[in-house]
Amino acid sequence: MPLTAARTPPPSAARTTPPSVLSATSASASPSAGRSPDLGARDADGYLKRILTARVYDVARETAMDSAPGLSARLGHRVLFKREDQQPVFSFKVRGAYNKMVNLPAEALARGVITASAGNHAQGVALSAARLGVRAIIVVPLTAPQVKIDAVRTHGGAMVEVVQAGESYSEACDHALMLQREHGMTFIPAFDDPDVIAGQGTVGMEILRQHRGPLDAIFVPIGGGSLAAGVAAYVKAVRPEIRVIGVQTEDSCAMARSIAAGERITLGEVGLFSDGTAVKRVGEETFRLCRAHLDDVLTVDTDALCAAIKDVFQDTRSLVEPAGALAVAGLKRFAEQAGGAPQTLVAITSGANMNFDRLRIVAERAEVVEAAAR
Ligand SMILES: Cc1ncc(COP(=O)(O)O)c(C=O)c1O
Repeated sequence: MPLTAARTPPPSAARTTPPSVLSATSASASPSAGRSPDLGARDADGYLKRILTARVYDVARETAMDSAPGLSARLGHRVLFKREDQQPVFSFKVRGAYNKMVNLPAEALARGVITASAGNHAQGVALSAARLGVRAIIVVPLTAPQVKIDAVRTHGGAMVEVVQAGESYSEACDHALMLQREHGMTFIPAFDDPDVIAGQGTVGMEILRQHRGPLDAIFVPIGGGSLAAGVAAYVKAVRPEIRVIGVQTEDSCAMARSIAAGERITLGEVGLFSDGTAVKRVGEETFRLCRAHLDDVLTVDTDALCAAIKDVFQDTRSLVEPAGALAVAGLKRFAEQAGGAPQTLVAITSGANMNFDRLRIVAERAEVVEAAAR
């Protein structure tokens, strides 16, 4: 049984889903246990202003919210995709990167910026650096897909130097921090920063603006946690009755484990199939916000991800990367167990930067999943 970590919904939330769909985590592990019931809402308010005033549209676009008719028919629920794979860098990450950089003091920008990233944040920093005319060093793990490394160079142009170091994001990050101390540059965190979180939170703002009717749940992929933290903080401040559910892979579920443990834990190893979310330790601030505002965190396996990539392709004719399909896989898992009246469910398709040769394994595994279901 996949590991899940849950919080009880706020008292104001209208429960639209049978409790059995929520995780098996005991009430004592509930993040909201022992705290005043409105703490989450007040805390979300601090981020509400940050998100409403975040500057992202110099480089990001308001992406579409598309219906997924095929998946909706198969699941018996209304499914919508929030198409962050349509950003100019093919992922939402440019929102947080730009909001962080544009809010830096001039002297911090003048020293140049440095970051570590599995690839998508790197592209966001590269595009933002080119846009702001700032020098940037970007450290990517040796395991980062070539398509992401090439895109960093394309978006950053002459402003950006790419350094490859470490097997995982965490190791690349250690290397970047060492270079930062050496060169005195300004570090741009990939997830654990209020301006980064607020930039990603604009995805939640757009979802609520684009869909004014009843909405039961929003599914968000989690790596370090900035997208989930930002979306949950916004949604819980504005429409707390909507469930916000995080999704991770079974072999890289640091947020689910941390919430269940009540403290941040560090994973020894992480699976790299969903390279965008392969994070050994989540952020301090992202953990605090996810713990306070997420209704649940579901986990899915690699086969479910491959099947979800195919589902997105069938409805949109677009190919998303494994991390980009995580939310869809989580939505399917939820819907299969939910039963009952049709619900309106949104999955954030968060990115589309996949090496072309990965398609072979994705197609093969999706076929295996389909055969097993027949
Ligand atoms: C495509 C994609 N989806 C989801 C995530 C997870 O985002 P976060 O680290 O904010 O949890 C990432 C992170 O890079 C990503 O690239």
